[in-house]
Amino acid sequence: MTQSPKKKIAVLTSGGDAPGMNSCLRAIVRRAIHQNCEVLGIRNGYEGLIRGDAKELNLRSVGNIIQRGGTFLKSSRSKEFREESGRKKAADFLKSQNIFGLITIGGDGTLTGANKLAEESGLYVIGVPCTIDNDLIGTDFAIGYDTAVNTAVQCIDKIRDTADSHGRVFVIEVMGKNTGHLAVDTALAAGAEFVVTPEKGENREALLKKIKAGVKRGKSGNIVIVAERKTPGEALAVAEAISKEVDRDVRTSLLGHLQRGGSPTSLDRNIAAQMGAYAVDTLLSGETQKMVGIECGVLKASAFAEVLGKSRKISEEKLALIDILSI
Ligand code: F6P
Repeated sequence: MTQSPKKKIAVLTSGGDAPGMNSCLRAIVRRAIHQNCEVLGIRNGYEGLIRGDAKELNLRSVGNIIQRGGTFLKSSRSKEFREESGRKKAADFLKSQNIFGLITIGGDGTLTGANKLAEESGLYVIGVPCTIDNDLIGTDFAIGYDTAVNTAVQCIDKIRDTADSHGRVFVIEVMGKNTGHLAVDTALAAGAEFVVTPEKGENREALLKKIKAGVKRGKSGNIVIVAERKTPGEALAVAEAISKEVDRDVRTSLLGHLQRGGSPTSLDRNIAAQMGAYAVDTLLSGETQKMVGIECGVLKASAFAEVLGKSRKISEEKLALIDILSI
């Protein structure tokens, strides 16, 4: 009896990197090999796919990376892939390599590109949610989010020490261009007085009222968390407004890209392992244009059409709790 030829799958990481991308690559490569597949690793995200920059991955290619931040395959934000002509080049490369299907690891932009690629080329494509923004629906957690929140909270705990020593107000900027999940979960875990999100806007009046009330009560340090919104550095304007109105020293701290780095937490490694292996199984069972996810502990695959373009809503309950617990 002749053995059927091995299926060949491709994998890439794209967009803003997030801790746990490597853990997920490890799971994908090893599960695929366990399922008798060959794996082609695409370097540098969609840019590499367009240029045919790829290498075969084996069990050892993904050794000793489970704990490492970043992505060993590298990542990019490809302008060319946003054009149909760029996606055509990418699809032609995959077809020339006899690729059965592609797994893309990334956030909203990555999965939107994956959906278009599948639609236009007929290739099988499955996405794995991985972004410190955690704005995708269809999964409780995107890989990388838990680590980013923990990183931000650890930084704020340190800032709180000095805020307390000097009786200062600190305005701390966390990432989040379009969404404030990272800001809200960080604020709740760090015991901040106030949080500014892209969704809700600034509400300067409420912010000043809160800080003034804290100062009046004799609070030794005040923490305000601001999501970066349009441009990194918007926290500076918030700090300036506070210092004009409040009789306290005000300082600013921009956490920036350090939130995207570092060793993934055990939660991120766990969901990366589960979602990575499940993405392989989903792809091999002939499904396409789906994003894998975990909701209430259960793995699921949702159609791209159901999840893309619909951001997860900010929790009103958490916002209310941040306010109540910082009286
Ligand atoms: O990865 C998502 C994100 O971290 C956003 O929160 C942020 O606005 C953006 O990436 C910044 O990314 P970059 O500096 O890579 O363009």
